[in-house]
Amino acid sequence: MITINHLLAKQSAGEKLTMLTCYDYASARIMSQSDVEMILVGDSAAMVMHGEQSTLPIDVETMAMHVRAVAKGAPGKFIIGDMPFLSYRKSLDENMRAVELLMKAGAHAIKLEGVKGNEELIGHIVDSGVPVMGHLGLTPQSVNQFGGFKVQGKSEEAQRQIIKDTLTLQRLGCFAVVLECVPDALTRELVSQTDLITIGIGAGPAVDGQVLVMQDMLGYSSGFSPKFLRRYLNAEALFLDAFNAYAKDVKSGEFPDQSELY
Ligand code: KIV
Ligand code: NA
Repeated sequence: MITINHLLAKQSAGEKLTMLTCYDYASARIMSQSDVEMILVGDSAAMVMHGEQSTLPIDVETMAMHVRAVAKGAPGKFIIGDMPFLSYRKSLDENMRAVELLMKAGAHAIKLEGVKGNEELIGHIVDSGVPVMGHLGLTPQSVNQFGGFKVQGKSEEAQRQIIKDTLTLQRLGCFAVVLECVPDALTRELVSQTDLITIGIGAGPAVDGQVLVMQDMLGYSSGFSPKFLRRYLNAEALFLDAFNAYAKDVKSGEFPDQSELY
């Protein structure tokens, strides 16, 4: 069972941390046997599991369902539940209901994007005994504000703001922060200034750990190729070969054979 203490100990020891997203029981079972420490049940589920064009359409009930499935498949891992779009921008009651749904579904921490307007809530969640992971840089829930999925922290001002926001998250009691699509030089500056566990995606090697979306690193989609993505499998080709081999066997009458019937 990996706990927040294990993660902090590894950070202190300078051991790199690993996180992957996961949304389903079957994949979680396999991931649970791996060396990956953290599983993020990300709201990227909206895109990779449900085919949406952004992360905006997914709701907290659906997120909780994904968390429950992953928690059953990977009981030994540290599971982070992602707070979906607007689920933490309402009344304190409603915001805490969303936190409650994810935690009672089996998460060990929650993640939310941005800082401005979330300060009081983050403090309250932390004081409630729930570890909070921040998320800065390219925060996909703000895609309409950004005008697309773009690298953040390019201007001097944007860089100062990301550093300020990281230190605010630290002051509010967060244990970690995801830095998404942040220039390497800024990441280095950030890491030197904060004690938070820094997890990067497109943020270079200076961070304490990395995160990738499982389907992306397994190559489910040959069409999605951002610079930061390293593919460890070509699932699209492997799956396609298997599907076609099955279709061929059925059509030729080779499947099922004598050993496969009752
Ligand atoms: O939802 C997600 O997959 C994420 C990661 C990209 C950090 O938030
Ligand atoms: Na997310």
